[in-house]
Amino acid sequence: MNFKDDEIKVLISRDEIAEKVAEAARELSEIYKGKNVVVVPLLRGAFIFASDLVRVMNTDVQVEFIGASSYGDATVTSGEVRLTQDTALPLSGRNVLIVEDIVDTGLTLAYIQRLILSRKPASRRTIVLLDKKIKRQVDVQLDNILFEIPDMFVFGYGLDSPGGYNRNLPDIMAVKN
Ligand code: PRP
Repeated sequence: MNFKDDEIKVLISRDEIAEKVAEAARELSEIYKGKNVVVVPLLRGAFIFASDLVRVMNTDVQVEFIGASSYGDATVTSGEVRLTQDTALPLSGRNVLIVEDIVDTGLTLAYIQRLILSRKPASRRTIVLLDKKIKRQVDVQLDNILFEIPDMFVFGYGLDSPGGYNRNLPDIMAVKN
């Protein structure tokens, strides 16, 4: 989806994001002090958020990717979460930090949290950049939330719009109502 300039606006600027990411990284660095952490970004949307986060975390981290998709090229969830990539190393006995870009219905994250729990990690936390609470259909445990957002269509900073080419936009953009 390609939008005209007057149809969209910056919802959260790159500076606001950087400030919150640094704050969350400080908190996580304290929580994981002296421990090893496996950071697990959910592809594809969380790749930019996770890259920024790990670079300001003062902790020894490994990174393992999980890919999950339920929207495909649509704006409404199919309700069916598909695993598109799994970790290369086992998560059993490790401190796992799931990094997600947005929680909407919660279906994707609930599926991934169940999957990770079944692998018996030593600990599990979830950090999420955007929480669209109003759309929640299932309960999910969120340990760090950077921004709560209203029910608007958002993209940029890792998030795409259907058929769009805009994951690389540095700010989080929203379609005006
Ligand atoms: C998006 C987003 C989350 C999920 C949130 O993924 O990255 O993982 O939807 O929605 P939910 O809470 O309703 O499940 P998408 O399926 O679009 O894949 P992508 O990350 O590859 O863009």
